[in-house]
Amino acid sequence: MNNQNIIHQFQRIMQDFKAVQDSQTTLTELMIPSYSNFGGKIHGGIILSLMDKVAYVCAAKHSDGYCITASIDVVDFLAPVEVGDLVSLMASVNYVGNTSMIIGIRVISENLKTQVKKHTNTSYFTMVAIGDDHKPKVVPGLILKSADDVRRFAQSLNRKKLKANYKKDEASIKDDYTDAQCVTLLKGERCQISL
Ligand SMILES: CC(C)(COP(=O)(O)OP(=O)(O)OC[C@H]1O[C@@H](n2cnc3c(N)ncnc32)[C@H](O)[C@@H]1OP(=O)(O)O)[C@@H](O)C(=O)NCCC(=O)NCCS
Repeated sequence: MNNQNIIHQFQRIMQDFKAVQDSQTTLTELMIPSYSNFGGKIHGGIILSLMDKVAYVCAAKHSDGYCITASIDVVDFLAPVEVGDLVSLMASVNYVGNTSMIIGIRVISENLKTQVKKHTNTSYFTMVAIGDDHKPKVVPGLILKSADDVRRFAQSLNRKKLKANYKKDEASIKDDYTDAQCVTLLKGERCQISL
């Protein structure tokens, strides 16, 4: 194979791969009063919706097309977000399978008066690329250019394994307890049986 052929082959392979940095996305939004809950803090649903939005943009950039949310990992709200804060959501593709991508999202809120920044959420959204036939379509592979890229890909593999194990464990939870088994299980819990 001559040099020209090798270069062409390399270029073709590279076209099916994209760097993490090519689709990294930051969404910044001012927290206005209409986003607040009864307690005066920003409603968790607003943050979740923004997370879904930034995950979509990041996944759509990587796959060059329409994507849907297949799954959202645990979202812990680590600190409240205040009205007037500037919230930044940073998303990057952490892992790609065949048609799915795991998008890692880090949410930071900043008090514009004091410039104090808080890490409020981190979560992982699984997005699936959808083709014109409305079926999942294969996405480009991922070029890992930094140690962080490599670590995140490896962590995603672990997280996928843990999730698969969790699903197996969950499937083994009985949903046909007898009344007597229920009474035993509920002993010591803060509930009263009042049938
Ligand atoms: C996501 C969806 C397209 C998967 O369709 P499917 O027929 O199960 O397709 P497949 O089995 O080929 O799965 C496609 C990929 O999604 C992944 N996937 C599917 N369900 C998943 C889940 N719950 N969690 C993580 N990944 C999932 C599969 O592992 C597969 O990944 P891979 O191709 O990288 O190996 C389908 O379940 C769907 O349309 N769900 C509704 C999505 C939606 O409406 N989202 C908006 C929520 S408001």
